[in-house]
Amino acid sequence: MHILTFVGSLRAESFSRKLAVAAEATAPDGTRFTSTDARDLPHYDQDLDGDEKPAAVQTLLDQVTAADALLFVTPEFNYGIPGPLKNAIDWASRPAYRSPLKNKPALVISQSIAPTGGVRAHTQLVAVLGGTLTPIFNGPAFNVPAIHEKFDEAGALTDELVKARLTRTLEDFTTWARALGGDS
Ligand SMILES: Cc1cc2nc3c(=O)[nH]c(=O)nc-3n(C[C@H](O)[C@H](O)[C@H](O)COP(=O)(O)O)c2cc1C
Repeated sequence: MHILTFVGSLRAESFSRKLAVAAEATAPDGTRFTSTDARDLPHYDQDLDGDEKPAAVQTLLDQVTAADALLFVTPEFNYGIPGPLKNAIDWASRPAYRSPLKNKPALVISQSIAPTGGVRAHTQLVAVLGGTLTPIFNGPAFNVPAIHEKFDEAGALTDELVKARLTRTLEDFTTWARALGGDS
């Protein structure tokens, strides 16, 4: 199963990216991961969304089309989804209700240094993906609080509870995604 990752933060030392890397490390055999890059995407502009799209947009669309399933890992910015992540989803969301996101099984994980674990961004992201007909894995909400305490200096996940939860969730998610037909 090919899982495409969307990371909600652009910064080099992003906890979201570290969590995505840890998810990949704990995923069951038979999964492989690639990731999107929101950095080069222009702001969504319908005038640019014609037959010939900006190169970074076409790359994103090709990546989503090729993936069996999606993993979103995001922080919360001002009670909501970071702009670059929303922008990437907007680009991948056309044509409405028939986009490459439609029927692509997705897992959403949020994190924050706060005790709330980015739950508001998580909730918003699930709502936004509802608008693209992206089915969301409906396990217990995966929000990681106090994320700054979960990694060592080298960026490896050290928190055993989060590790165990990642392992179990990736197992359940991939089983569910396969049952939905999200595999090739
Ligand atoms: C612009 C900005 C806004 C933020 N707003 C919130 C917020 O509303 N709620 C929250 O829990 N954390 C907020 N934070 C903290 C981030 O969610 C937290 O630092 C997160 O771990 C950063 O993720 P990253 O390491 O992947 O960049 C904000 C951080 C920034 C830079």
